[in-house]
Amino acid sequence: MTILFINGSPRHHGNTATLGARLLADLPVATRHLADYQLNFVQDFRDTTHPQLDLSDDYEALMQADFATATDIVLGTPVYWYGMTGQMKVFMDRWFDSFSHDFPFAGKRLYLLLVGADQPDIKATGIASAVQYSCDWLHMAFQGTGIVTADGPTDVASLVTLPASCRDLRQKLLAASK
Ligand SMILES: Cc1cc2nc3c(=O)[nH]c(=O)nc-3n(C[C@H](O)[C@H](O)[C@H](O)COP(=O)(O)O)c2cc1C
Repeated sequence: MTILFINGSPRHHGNTATLGARLLADLPVATRHLADYQLNFVQDFRDTTHPQLDLSDDYEALMQADFATATDIVLGTPVYWYGMTGQMKVFMDRWFDSFSHDFPFAGKRLYLLLVGADQPDIKATGIASAVQYSCDWLHMAFQGTGIVTADGPTDVASLVTLPASCRDLRQKLLAASK
């Protein structure tokens, strides 16, 4: 088992990063912060002769070095305007490049972490739907969503225990690691 945690927050040590670290404690994980990568907007080359590919940024290296080799993917994003962050959206949009080149998405287990200040369990469900449907399209096995209400950068660090949705995901990760 190889776990890749992708943090879609611009904060390297904020709530999403802390949630990922707590969820994945003592598991074999590599953490990547999208804020450290140059990621271009996806282009739609379908009506051109250009291959559906952009080698001018860090996307392909991240996918080949880290995503391709992971069995389990944990995506973490703060809620921004009731959606995922721009960083995460741009990253996921680029999956279309990989999909167009037979990237081995199929069979990977994918877990989603959401952190928001304003009732994310009620108001951010669109993010979970988008990720779940994307997993279905790419034949990844969506494992569920861990949701935390938090705002200040140390709110998640201050929690005595993680919410049940997150504990459930950790149990799934532990079971997968056996
Ligand atoms: C630009 C921006 C937009 C935000 N929009 C929302 C929102 O729509 N709903 C919400 O619940 N929280 C929203 N928040 C609050 C963040 O989700 C919250 O502070 C979160 O804990 C940040 O996670 P981080 O520490 O990992 O960056 C927003 C924060 C920012 C900076």
